[in-house]
Amino acid sequence: MTTRARPLIAGNWKMNGLTGSLAELDAIIAGSSAVADRADLLICPPATLVAAFAARAKGTAVMIGGQDCHPEPCGAHTGDIAAEMLKDAGASFVIVGHSERRADHHETDELVRQKTLAAWRAGLVAIVCVGETGAERDAGQTLDVVGRQIERSVPDGARTESLVVAYEPVWAIGTGVTPTTSDVEQIHAFICLKLSKKMKNSGESSKILYGGSVKPSNCNELLCISHVNGALVGGASLKSSDFLAIAAAAPK
Ligand code: PGA
Repeated sequence: MTTRARPLIAGNWKMNGLTGSLAELDAIIAGSSAVADRADLLICPPATLVAAFAARAKGTAVMIGGQDCHPEPCGAHTGDIAAEMLKDAGASFVIVGHSERRADHHETDELVRQKTLAAWRAGLVAIVCVGETGAERDAGQTLDVVGRQIERSVPDGARTESLVVAYEPVWAIGTGVTPTTSDVEQIHAFICLKLSKKMKNSGESSKILYGGSVKPSNCNELLCISHVNGALVGGASLKSSDFLAIAAAAPK
């Protein structure tokens, strides 16, 4: 892979958004043509809005994704959503293994691996999230933790076009704090190397996004780091102007 794959700027809306939020999506769509030469744009709203957002974004430069999926295609799993359902609703991506899912729902690497396979089965691109906690960072375990998560959460035989990895240090999510440029560079290079052993075509890598407190004031620096192929944006993706400003900073 070249070190500069086309960047992906992905918005993770988490548990935020009601039908009135279609106006925010409209604003993102309206501004998307101005940044379309720089980056692919993705919005992952809560499940209740996926179908409406996908219908609205159809034929535009903005893609829509889910935030989680169940490993099975259907069955007795109250409250869960299958990857096939997301696809049917118009999604083309799904986030799996976000640290909030890993923490709140005790998701293991093995479950994340199964969810990734489910995404591929349904024809979705999986965004697999990895990242160390603050305690793990302080104990000097970052590369061990991230390496193990990649090893166990990413299925063997991955293809570049159906996998994206997001490196999101847990301590950076929603805190306003980000790792240093050299730390991001080192960890992304490490992930790239680990991933190349997982890919169907050895030597390739998939896109690796940085996530955790990405905002208009720090995106220039973060998006230009080598092996950073875009961003997974939480809080700042809820405001169209901030999200578009981040996309506008993606290097050409
Ligand atoms: P944040 O969230 O941008 O609000 O830190 C990122 C994420 O959790 O994906």
